[in-house]
Amino acid sequence: MQNRRKFIKLSALGIPLLSSLDSFSKVVTPTLGNLPIVISTWDFGIAANQAAWKVLAKGGRALDAVEQGVHVPEADPKNQSVGYGGLPDRDGHVTLDACIMDELGNCGSVAGLEHIKHPISVARLVMEKTPHVMLVGDGALQFAVENGFKKENLLTKESEKAWKEWLKTAKYAPVMNIENKLYDKVAPRKLPGNQYNHDTIGMLALDANGNLSGACTTSGMAYKLHGRVGDSPIIGAGLYVDNEVGGATSTGVGEEVIRNVGSFLVVELMRQGYTPEAACKEAVMRIIKKKPDIAKNIQVGFLALNKKGEYGAYAIQKGFSYAVCTKQQNDLLIDGKSYY
Ligand code: GLY
Repeated sequence: MQNRRKFIKLSALGIPLLSSLDSFSKVVTPTLGNLPIVISTWDFGIAANQAAWKVLAKGGRALDAVEQGVHVPEADPKNQSVGYGGLPDRDGHVTLDACIMDELGNCGSVAGLEHIKHPISVARLVMEKTPHVMLVGDGALQFAVENGFKKENLLTKESEKAWKEWLKTAKYAPVMNIENKLYDKVAPRKLPGNQYNHDTIGMLALDANGNLSGACTTSGMAYKLHGRVGDSPIIGAGLYVDNEVGGATSTGVGEEVIRNVGSFLVVELMRQGYTPEAACKEAVMRIIKKKPDIAKNIQVGFLALNKKGEYGAYAIQKGFSYAVCTKQQNDLLIDGKSYY
């Protein structure tokens, strides 16, 4: 249940209008009557959802919506955990992981892709134009360039500076929930100077026809070993969609998500009747139960949307945020509570 709060309304054209809502309002749990809906991880999900919404509001396909939506953080140089401007690996390479899945069970993925600003679109092309699911490294780059993608330098001056600073100690100490800039207004933290983590935009959409798709894209763990691949491009780990049941996506330390095939698990739990939030919680509990010592010091969050348009999330640590956009709301939820 939500409390009195500010509320960002969408106009008929899908343009967000900030207004204050004087009366009590609660999050509407969408049903098939008021589709479409798009949800995505972290604060940067707000802008991404708005781009996705432009597709959904016109009656577009969820697959197009999630691709357009995640393009926003992929192209944002200030976002240091996704796409252009992402923090590099230990050797200074920006290597990107992404995957996409549609309502027909088709999926495509790229891992360790360098020099291409929109890995999600390369993943979509792998899905649509090849008999394969996943391309990695040089092969993924070759495929992208052959298909007209521009080769670019993705290492911004800011990310290069942060990497060089990190090299002075080369100590791996990510700050949890760093993607959630708004969290500091809710629960102020003392943060170290060189802040970094390894996070992801995971997005799920249900279109006006009741079809689901999902996308997941990241620059992965900052300062990772060259060649390290996280959960984000792994179908079933970072993302899974089953149009009969629902979709799920994850963010946080990918190794623990892969070990538990997290997103597939969430979808299968929803198939058994779990609500999206209960399914996400159960997946988080598996991680905690198997490796309690590791779980104490890491963040992993799952986000899920079922076929009815109900959504929910759960994370190991407090401070996980996700954005929700429907006809009625364009909201950010931090620890399940509306921020606005
Ligand atoms: N969840 C992103 C990663 O671990 O690479």
